[in-house]
Amino acid sequence: MPAADHADLYYDSQVKTIGKDGNEITTVGFDRFGFNCEVPLNALRSLYLRPHYVNTAIAHKGANGASAQVAKVDEEHAYFASDGNAEYQSKSIYHPDSNSISYTTLSRFPPVTLLPPNQRKRVLVTGGAGFVGSHLVDRLMLLGHEVTVLDNFFTGSRTNVSHWVGHPNFELVRHDVVEPFMIECDQIYHLACPASPPHYQANPVKTIKTSFLGTLNMLGLAKRTKARFLLASTSEIYGDPEVHPQPETYWGNVNPNGIRACYDEGKRVAETLTYGFHRQDGVDVRIARIFNTFGPRMNPQDGRVVSNFIIQALRNEDMTVYGGGKQTRSFQYIHDLIDGLIALMNSDVVEPVNLGNSDEFEIGNFALVVRDIVADLQKKDPSEYRIVDRPMPKDDPQRRRPDTTRAKEMLGWQPRWTVEMGLGEMVRYYKAKMVEGSI
Ligand SMILES: NC(=O)c1ccc[n+]([C@@H]2O[C@H](COP(=O)([O-])OP(=O)(O)OC[C@H]3O[C@@H](n4cnc5c(N)ncnc54)[C@H](O)[C@@H]3O)[C@@H](O)[C@H]2O)c1
Repeated sequence: MPAADHADLYYDSQVKTIGKDGNEITTVGFDRFGFNCEVPLNALRSLYLRPHYVNTAIAHKGANGASAQVAKVDEEHAYFASDGNAEYQSKSIYHPDSNSISYTTLSRFPPVTLLPPNQRKRVLVTGGAGFVGSHLVDRLMLLGHEVTVLDNFFTGSRTNVSHWVGHPNFELVRHDVVEPFMIECDQIYHLACPASPPHYQANPVKTIKTSFLGTLNMLGLAKRTKARFLLASTSEIYGDPEVHPQPETYWGNVNPNGIRACYDEGKRVAETLTYGFHRQDGVDVRIARIFNTFGPRMNPQDGRVVSNFIIQALRNEDMTVYGGGKQTRSFQYIHDLIDGLIALMNSDVVEPVNLGNSDEFEIGNFALVVRDIVADLQKKDPSEYRIVDRPMPKDDPQRRRPDTTRAKEMLGWQPRWTVEMGLGEMVRYYKAKMVEGSI
């Protein structure tokens, strides 16, 4: 099948995104609090749902069977070179015979809004090469702001933002936030911190240093530059909650010396520090308590439940649930989170705000939802996938669901994406990465 037909297959018919309200989603973001963060969904998608190898060496040589090879590669990829975005795709050449790649840089960047200087913000995103950070960067870049990413690449990757490297509005700096950093900026999104249990437990002392010293350094920078500072906090500060769902007024139930404490207590002290700078030095602060979020560019090796299930199903491995699968989680899609972070940053809400999706799933049932979506994409029968049960890890919370009343009332924000729609997009992304050989 020619590539163009595959563009139709992946885009027109399968990628119609129907939101929670039943209407099709064609843009994300909104114009609120004097900051317009609305961009077409396809502009964003062209940055993550795209083939990295547009050409193959075989096609160049014009060898026999070349078109079949190219069609195969295109067929397996989530194909988003349509919609006028093709000229901003990588033109790197893949050599299937030696499984090697000749990288080329982009000759053109995706179009970004031309903002007048008084509207263009200088935004620092720490942890901007990670999962959440890279989506925030995409949005801020498309909107025409100047973005500096600070990252030590512990869990993040340059490839998450490589499509902006060289752009005049973009700067990528390798730096560890436990060391001070000087820059002039208007807003700081402080996201740098490993977020998944295997990564934050790998070096618990470093995790606490990142949370404490990293936040201290970035708050010091905010104080000096008078930048507005937003901390990416977490639902983990509620621990294993006794109150359900969790409102921001709940103080949490955290084990201070368990294996998750380096992250949970680290974020709690980061919040304390943030309000210390606010009360003592008048730093303008925002705190987002982020609940489980998923989407493309999530590190597939980091052991989080959504990526685990999808990768296992795509590889036809057993899908593992723990402790009977009765524990509940809620999952929000990445674009909803980015909407919420930008709305919060530009609002005047100083209190902590929960950002999450309140649709609650038992993990066992969630595995079934993922299985059905993967089976549908792979054109297989769901009965071909096996779900197995393993003992529960230590300190794993039983229930977690946000009370998002504050975000709704104060920011006018609520999730628009259904979990199923987000999962469909993420499954296509991981499948493309697998075919590419990058996961
Ligand atoms: N994804 C979620 O579900 C979720 C939920 C709650 C909170 N959060 C918070 O959001 C933020 C981003 O999470 P994510 O899911 O994108 O994780 P991620 O691991 O993909 O991104 C974290 C980024 O921070 C960088 N980093 C880590 N330590 C650093 C250091 N010392 N100096 C500089 N950079 C450093 C990593 O290299 C990575 O790029 C984190 O602060 C996390 O605690 C995420």
